[in-house]
Amino acid sequence: MSRRRILVTSALPYVNADLHIGHLTEHIQTDVWRRFQRLRGHEIRYFCGDDTHGTATMLRAQKEGRSPEDLLAEMQRAHEADLNAFGVFYDRFSNTHSDANRALVAEMWQALRSAGCIDERDVTQLFDPEAGIFLADRFVVGGCPRCQAPGQYGDNCEVCGATYSPSDLVDPKSAISGAVPELRTHRHLFVRLEPFHDFLSEWTQTPGKVPPETANWLRNTFLAAPLRDWDISRPAPYFGFEIPDSPGNYFYVWLDAPVGYIAATKEWCDANGDSVARWWNDPGCEIHHFIGKDIAYFHTLFWPAMLKTAGYSLPTAVHVHGFLTVNGEKLSKRKGTAIFARTYLDHLSPEYLRYYLASKLSARVDDVDLNFEEFTAKVNADLVGKVVNLASRTARFVKGRALPAIYPSARDGGLFAAAAAAGVELAEAYESLDTSRAMRTIMALADRANEFVEAQAPWNLKKDPAKDGELLEVCAIALNLFRQITIYLAPVLPRFAEESARLLSLAGETQWEDAAKPIVGKAVAEFRPLMERVDPAKVEALLAAARAMSDEAAGAAAAGAIGDGASTNAAEGEAFAGEPLAAECSIDDFAKIDLRIARIVSAKAVPKADKLLELEISLGGGERRTIFAGIKAAYDPETLVGRLTVVVANLAPRKMKFGVSQGMVLAAGAGGSDLFILAPDSGAKPGQRVR
Ligand code: 2FM
Ligand code: ZN
Repeated sequence: MSRRRILVTSALPYVNADLHIGHLTEHIQTDVWRRFQRLRGHEIRYFCGDDTHGTATMLRAQKEGRSPEDLLAEMQRAHEADLNAFGVFYDRFSNTHSDANRALVAEMWQALRSAGCIDERDVTQLFDPEAGIFLADRFVVGGCPRCQAPGQYGDNCEVCGATYSPSDLVDPKSAISGAVPELRTHRHLFVRLEPFHDFLSEWTQTPGKVPPETANWLRNTFLAAPLRDWDISRPAPYFGFEIPDSPGNYFYVWLDAPVGYIAATKEWCDANGDSVARWWNDPGCEIHHFIGKDIAYFHTLFWPAMLKTAGYSLPTAVHVHGFLTVNGEKLSKRKGTAIFARTYLDHLSPEYLRYYLASKLSARVDDVDLNFEEFTAKVNADLVGKVVNLASRTARFVKGRALPAIYPSARDGGLFAAAAAAGVELAEAYESLDTSRAMRTIMALADRANEFVEAQAPWNLKKDPAKDGELLEVCAIALNLFRQITIYLAPVLPRFAEESARLLSLAGETQWEDAAKPIVGKAVAEFRPLMERVDPAKVEALLAAARAMSDEAAGAAAAGAIGDGASTNAAEGEAFAGEPLAAECSIDDFAKIDLRIARIVSAKAVPKADKLLELEISLGGGERRTIFAGIKAAYDPETLVGRLTVVVANLAPRKMKFGVSQGMVLAAGAGGSDLFILAPDSGAKPGQRVR
């Protein structure tokens, strides 16, 4: 088998959001494939980084009173650390604001210009005169022009399903400042895609380039008609790269994001004496992108067009996965199903997740459900019950002894040879991303190995000193079968594979072919538990923590804090960090709100919640209430006791993870530590209405 040179990438995560279980799915899938290729002896490099540009980064940095560069440096470190904790390692995890990316983007831009693919024309769009920025659709809120439903964002109505231009909204407002937007015209730059139509039809429909589902979708949705021009400029102010020959205009985030793949390669090459051309300009090198279906459009139309124009290699394949759901629900911070990487790590082992996902993923674009009951059952039955068990019930009988100098094949009924032969099918399954098939095949090998142990009953052989030779052979067979299985599982469970090698006193890097070579003469070390059973109580604790975070998000909102920026919009490529505006409220609506002065009787932090304080308030006349407020960053609880505040007293009670919140404390400020809830102690009485 000749040694392949392979470059692999996962989609660059947005700098603005913490990584959640959906990101992990993609990066774990990529990492499993990377580790498999390495085990096979191929040269493979994995590049990724943070996707940093756009309005959302600019607004968030402004809100936090720091530079976007400062924000991205912190997030880049946090993202890489989170992914490393799940066993995902990159040769370079960079960011798209790098010098290397700036230079490469300029080069690609020049190529597009020289190829005559750039057009300019005026675009009329809503503009926020207060914030001084043009508003992407989702930054505009107003009433639906068809059904009049208030509070609709962007270009479609969630109530009646109508689609329209945001400028048609009734009483539109900027979601950033609340100002009434104006229509303004600005000159934009466009990449013409229609000249690439034939090329893209051919490339996307070539078997193996993209999954068949994606190829069909592209053919039916885009390639059946002329390809629309792509608007790639954004007027200042915008956090990004200024377009070299168009001052005051910036490259749209999606133009420079994929170039980040090459920029990360460049940085790695510079640090390691290699050349970018060996990776991005050499037919001998394979390029594999791993992405989610929501961004297939960018990676299969714009990106190949850019690569071709600038003279870089086209991807060997774009591997597209579906969405992840948790217990059948879409990922939502509000519902507590958006489990963040760090929350998971507080409760469960990363290797459980790696195995579970590998057992569910295939090359198909299907959505994958993370069902925690199945997760628990699978890990416990397969990994602990079948694989670990194989070693635990044999290694202890031969602890400290050397395995026989010759593998006792006459006694194993062909099991070792059969498992060695299964390596061909397993490699094929890993290669084609069908890890669910690979895991099934491996577990079938474990079943047969366990049947062998059952039949040979080493625990009985141990009782008879005359059968010591037989005992050693039976255990040597079981441990060799175990070793084969751990090699086959190594791309998925690297830590487990390392621990298992220690049990058999094996040092040095393992290769896939080692699964066909029996271990002889090595000392058996003491058996240490290789993996614990999944404790359902820990799963519960994880889910409770995720729900608590959703309550906290609601609590923060209840205290007037700005929205959490959790939503993303792949089409625009910018996470929304602004504060959604509520629908207009009439004076009669307002009169329904019972605002009262309240005295804070006690205040304490809510354990396990980063943002919440639990307040007991008095409304006078002996009436006490409990209110959860997302103000922990702003106030030391002790300083609140005895002070006056303003509460919404007739808000329907809200059941939260920590208890029932019986009202809402009003706050002013930007959020975080910048929140103010106290009223001056000017003789107002608790219970007094505020008007
Ligand atoms: O959808 C996303 O999360 C984007 N940040 C992915 C970018 S991938 C690449 F093109 F950079
Ligand atoms: Zn409507």
